[in-house]
Amino acid sequence: MTRTCVGIVGAGPAGLVLAHLLAEQGVESVVLERQSRDYVEKRVRAGLLEHGTVARLERHGLAERLRARGQVHRGVELRFDGARHRIAYAELCAGRHMMVYAQQDLVADLIRLWIARGGAIAFEVEDVALRHLDGERPEIRYSRGGREERLGCDWVAGCDGYHGVSRGSIPPGVLRVHDHRLPFAWVGVLAQVAPSTEEIIYAQHERGFAGHMLRSQTVSRFYLQTEPDDPIESWPDARIWAELQLRLAVTDGWKLREGPVLEKSVTEMRSFVVEPMQFGRLFLAGDAAHIVPPTGAKGLNLAVADARLLAQALTRRVHASDSSGLDAYSEDCLRRVWRVQEFSSWMSWLLHRIPDATPDAELRRRLQRAQLEYLVTSAAARTGFAENYVGLERV
Ligand code: APR
Repeated sequence: MTRTCVGIVGAGPAGLVLAHLLAEQGVESVVLERQSRDYVEKRVRAGLLEHGTVARLERHGLAERLRARGQVHRGVELRFDGARHRIAYAELCAGRHMMVYAQQDLVADLIRLWIARGGAIAFEVEDVALRHLDGERPEIRYSRGGREERLGCDWVAGCDGYHGVSRGSIPPGVLRVHDHRLPFAWVGVLAQVAPSTEEIIYAQHERGFAGHMLRSQTVSRFYLQTEPDDPIESWPDARIWAELQLRLAVTDGWKLREGPVLEKSVTEMRSFVVEPMQFGRLFLAGDAAHIVPPTGAKGLNLAVADARLLAQALTRRVHASDSSGLDAYSEDCLRRVWRVQEFSSWMSWLLHRIPDATPDAELRRRLQRAQLEYLVTSAAARTGFAENYVGLERV
């Protein structure tokens, strides 16, 4: 059996940032990933980084390519009734800006830097099983290339996302599960077309939400509100462009460029949180413990925030035998998680078409409109939006 200090399950943003921050403090870890390196480095996911996330990655020497290739963003555009409303969030938040950088590129950077610093990582592991989590010496059993492996560790970090094994390794009755599906879903589209905007656009429209996100100078990402159980087959490319043209339309002559659709899929919108984010010597981080509706693009940023808190707590335990950080880990993370859940849910209800089946749908639509008009006319409301969107430093 091999041994390490921290066994990390999952090579997504949470697991990789945790591994780097621990290594910087001289705490050894091993990262186990189910997929191949090529797969995780090409898997299209999020791509909007809060000010604090960029600052954290920079502080730990993980942001060189992000800084070189990412795009700095200082504002966002809301659209409704054919009009645009810019929210200059950097101005409203003392210059704190966001960055657009594809999650798969960030994951590729973190893996390259991890291997370059001699970090241990195993891809394509199978049948991962966690043992003795409530004892002194947890163990991770897995197979690789047909060989059974056992990794003894002092702590286990469950960074394996919503569909991983870590959360399911916690005995029934320990976790309190909050799981709420919003009555909306998104058709996510990646298209080979230059962006038609310099800033992200969120459009509220009677036909449903539309979003024009950014990825690079040649590839753009779009989202369209659809029914939760709508199959992607009901969204042929022509319908996608027709709906984007309608929902993003404004009256000042702005035009949306179209291009070949590279990838499309339907994503459900859900608020999911487990409490606590720990069982014995297993600590959950990122999507393994919480899923936020994608509207505010917070999932990646929450994963990095969890990883930072867990790295600090484990480092204090290893080097100073001080368990206070580990004892408070779950509570500290959940404070930020619920703040972000609230903001993401609020933003989702603000920008999506309220389904007819929603109780008091017409009344809610009037309330939604009143909120939108308040947001674009009140400096206080814009500042509240801006600081949540850019990311609250201290939560
Ligand atoms: N064994 C090993 N690895 C696993 C297992 C398993 N049984 N199950 C899942 N994994 C891996 C996945 O293949 C994935 O690479 O764990 C990793 C989890 O990474 P993410 O899903 O990216 O989760 P996280 O690091 O928490 O980052 C959250 O990712 O999904 C986006 O929108 C989400 O932006 C958010 C961010």
